[in-house]
Amino acid sequence: MGRNRYFTKTLPFGLALFIVSLFFSVPAATALSDADKTAIGTEITTIYRAARGVIAKSQKLINDASKGDKGLSADAVIAKTKENYKKATGGDFKMADAGSLKGQTQAALIDAIKNVMNDAQSLINEKGKGLKGFLPAIFAKQMGDGFNKNISGKAYIKLTAPKSYVRNRANRPDKWEANVIEKMFKSAGYEKNKVHTENAKHKGKDAFRLILPEYYKKACLNCHGEPKGEKDITGGKKEGGKLGELGGAISFVIYN
Ligand code: HEC
Repeated sequence: MGRNRYFTKTLPFGLALFIVSLFFSVPAATALSDADKTAIGTEITTIYRAARGVIAKSQKLINDASKGDKGLSADAVIAKTKENYKKATGGDFKMADAGSLKGQTQAALIDAIKNVMNDAQSLINEKGKGLKGFLPAIFAKQMGDGFNKNISGKAYIKLTAPKSYVRNRANRPDKWEANVIEKMFKSAGYEKNKVHTENAKHKGKDAFRLILPEYYKKACLNCHGEPKGEKDITGGKKEGGKLGELGGAISFVIYN
C-alpha cells in the first residue's frame, strides 16, 4: 500500500524532471532557423560555383595538348576557389566551427573538391591529348557526388537544368525542382538570380530546400546554343539556348 502511494506520487514528478532535463541537455544551437539554413545554402552554393568557375576558366589550359603538368593540383584549385569566393562575396573564406552544420558542410565540400582534383590529375596532365571532357558541369557533378557522400543524411547538392535541356540523366530535376524551374524561374516576372527556398520533401524525407537559377552566358552557347541539334565540340547536341536564358539550377537540401 505505502509503496504504491510512493510510486504514484513520485513517478510523475521524476518524469517531469526528466523531460525538463531534456531541454537543457539539447543545445539550443541545433535548432536552425530557415534564415540559418538559407545562409548555409548560400555559403555552400557559393563555394560550389567558385570551384566550378576555376575549372571553367581553366578549360583552355586543361585541353592544351602541348602541356603536361597543368598546375591544377587540389591545393591550387582550392586556393583559386577561395579567390573566386572572395570576388563573389567580398569577404575571405572562413571555416565555421567544426561542430556546426555550416562547418561540416564546408569541410565536406572542400574535401570533395580535393578528391575530384586528386583523381583527375592523370587525365588533365596527359600530354598530347587535347579535349579531355573535364568540363565544368562534369566537375560539378563529381564535386556534388563527393559532397553528398561526405555529408550523407544531413545535406545534399545537385546541379540540374530545365527538363528539356538535361543531357546527363543523373542531373534531371526532381518533381519539386522541375516545378520551381518551370513555374517560377521561367515566369517573366521572376527576379533574376533570386534564390527560392521552401520546406518540402526530398527523396521522401522532410527537408529545407533551396534552389538557385543560372543563365546562359556567351561562352555557354558554344555548346548549349544554336542551331539546336548541331554537334558541339564534345560531340553532344546543342540545346538551342539563347543568351540570358535559364540554363540550369543548383539545388541544395538540408534534412530536418
Ligand atoms: C564545351 C562545351 C560546354 C560548354 C562551353 C558548357 N557546357 Fe554545360 N554541359 C556540357 C556537357 C557535355 C554537359 C553534360 C555533362 C555530363 O554528361 O554530365 C553539360 C551539362 C550542363 C549542365 C547540367 C545539366 C545537364 O545537361 O546534364 C548545366 C546546368 C550546364 N551544362 C550549364 C552550362 C552553363 C551555364 C555554361 C556556361 C557557363 C555551360 N554549361 C558551358 C557542355 C558544355
